[in-house]
Amino acid sequence: MLEEPIVTLRAVSDDDEDLLYRIAADLDTWEERSPASPAPLSLAAYRARRARGELDGDADFIISVDGRAVGRCTLFHEDRLARHAEVGIALLPDERGRGYGTEGLRQAVEFGFGRRNLRRLYLWVLASNRAAIASYGKVGFVEEGRHREHCWVRGRYEDEVAMGLLRSEWRG
Ligand SMILES: CC(C)(COP(=O)(O)OP(=O)(O)OC[C@H]1O[C@@H](n2cnc3c(N)ncnc32)[C@H](O)[C@@H]1OP(=O)(O)O)[C@@H](O)C(=O)NCCC(=O)NCCS
Repeated sequence: MLEEPIVTLRAVSDDDEDLLYRIAADLDTWEERSPASPAPLSLAAYRARRARGELDGDADFIISVDGRAVGRCTLFHEDRLARHAEVGIALLPDERGRGYGTEGLRQAVEFGFGRRNLRRLYLWVLASNRAAIASYGKVGFVEEGRHREHCWVRGRYEDEVAMGLLRSEWRG
């Protein structure tokens, strides 16, 4: 019988630079991940951004599957007064579609609510990003609204969907 892969979250180490750079520089999913205009991202520019702390979240995780790093998940823009934070997630291209992102997100949500005492998590996602929206829905996020035609994505305008999850709705 095949063993289920074990998905865990862990801290970022120096050895993860290649993975994180490959995700950050992936032009195919640039608009899905970033509000900045798409552009080739050199390793030197990526390192400079990291050194300036521009890529740091409030809780940065590597998603690991059976010990292999497959992606990242971050809680950022944390508001300690209102107790909410934004979530970001991305996997390497070859690792998508196998449930790893959904399980990694589930664990990040558990961390946010259970360990950092947050009461609301939210994110923004392109309306065309069906896999991401399905994944977030499986974890419990619901659509809260949208910015109509807010994003320019590979030749057309697209809605940006707001999704959120309250701790009171969370069935960890
Ligand atoms: C978004 C992302 C993190 C999701 O993680 P993942 O591991 O690929 O997601 P899963 O394999 O758990 O799939 C989630 C669901 O989406 C569904 N799905 C996959 N592709 C789909 C598609 N094209 N249309 C509709 N649903 C789709 C899957 O069927 C799955 O549901 P199921 O388990 O009931 O079958 C990952 O795909 C990714 O890194 N994408 C590129 C970066 C990105 O878009 N980040 C999000 C920015 S908001």
